[in-house]
Amino acid sequence: MDDFVLNPALERGMAYGEEQRAILSLAKAREAREHIARWDGYGATPLHDLIELAHRHRVAQVLYKDEGKRFSLRSFKALGGAYAVDRLVAKNGAAGLTVTCATDGNHGRAVAWGAARAGAKAVIYVHEGVSEGRAEAIRSFGATVVREGSNYDASVRASTEAAARNGWEIVSDTSWPGYEDVPRDVMQGYAVLAMEASEQGADPTHIFIQGGVGGVAAAMLSYYWEKFGANRPKLIVVEPDKAACLFESAKSRRVEFVEGDLDTVMAGLACGEPSILAWQLLGPGADAFMTVTDQEAIAAMQLLAEFHVVGGESGVAGLAGFLKAAANPNIRTALELDPTSRVLLIGTEGATDPALYTEFVGMTPEEIEA
Ligand SMILES: Cc1ncc(COP(=O)(O)O)c(C=O)c1O
Repeated sequence: MDDFVLNPALERGMAYGEEQRAILSLAKAREAREHIARWDGYGATPLHDLIELAHRHRVAQVLYKDEGKRFSLRSFKALGGAYAVDRLVAKNGAAGLTVTCATDGNHGRAVAWGAARAGAKAVIYVHEGVSEGRAEAIRSFGATVVREGSNYDASVRASTEAAARNGWEIVSDTSWPGYEDVPRDVMQGYAVLAMEASEQGADPTHIFIQGGVGGVAAAMLSYYWEKFGANRPKLIVVEPDKAACLFESAKSRRVEFVEGDLDTVMAGLACGEPSILAWQLLGPGADAFMTVTDQEAIAAMQLLAEFHVVGGESGVAGLAGFLKAAANPNIRTALELDPTSRVLLIGTEGATDPALYTEFVGMTPEEIEA
């Protein structure tokens, strides 16, 4: 199988110790939650119980947390980028502050939204593959959008260089050696997802979570690992086959970069370089890694629409991974997926580009939810 691997470096019994808590912790997740809960319009996003889907795929439960309903941003990224901007403003003040980042859409939208709320300026870098609809959504929060680079990793470098030239603060969702504080805040904001899901009654045995640089997967893992230790649910990271840097890293037990234009409809997951911080947790802590094709993601969008739930291309990758795993006897066995399994999926985005959504599903998001 070249689309599934059990993590050869998994250390399930390893304690969630000081080293891990220095990256992400329940205590800091609670702090993030208290802060974010004070934002206007905050509410836990819906957790859909897809009973018929669970039945069809011979598991006990499939829960889908619908981040399409996260503030007005339609993605979980609001929890990370905007929280990190607030933390910077708390340290430096908003006067004269310009924040910058690279994005394939959602993170930039979150940073622009956070900057607008905090009274700071934002300059957001997008690469050639980012749709104009997504760029426009970022501009709608008053940010300047700069188009530079052929893929996400190239636009990360462009924004980093511009920040050094202009004295801007980088609010990146990925980390690299020497740049860890802000991405730690970003990921800590994401962990609010897991807290909400628990409060809503989720008690999963399996979590299928999509991976770009690995930040949201690491945030989910950290919550359950610190809370339940070796008794935590299995975490399966799902990536596009065309941008599978975490999958490749798992196979070779060290951080691997994937080159090329990372051409996938799952724009939010089109990352070729893992976040170093995220990998420190996923390396020993994630149970398995798998890839899905664009066709599988689009099929998952269409399937979800049957349940009147709107999931964007990147938002349904975890669902696509689950569908693939459930249908394959070898993967079912490897993951111990059976009729007692309770599966949690994080629908990390809704229709963040409504025109693309309509093209793939054949109906508008409004029609699906009607
Ligand atoms: C909708 C969506 N889902 C998942 C991800 C992946 O998150 P990460 O890069 O933290 O792995 C992204 C990243 O941009 C995204 O936009």
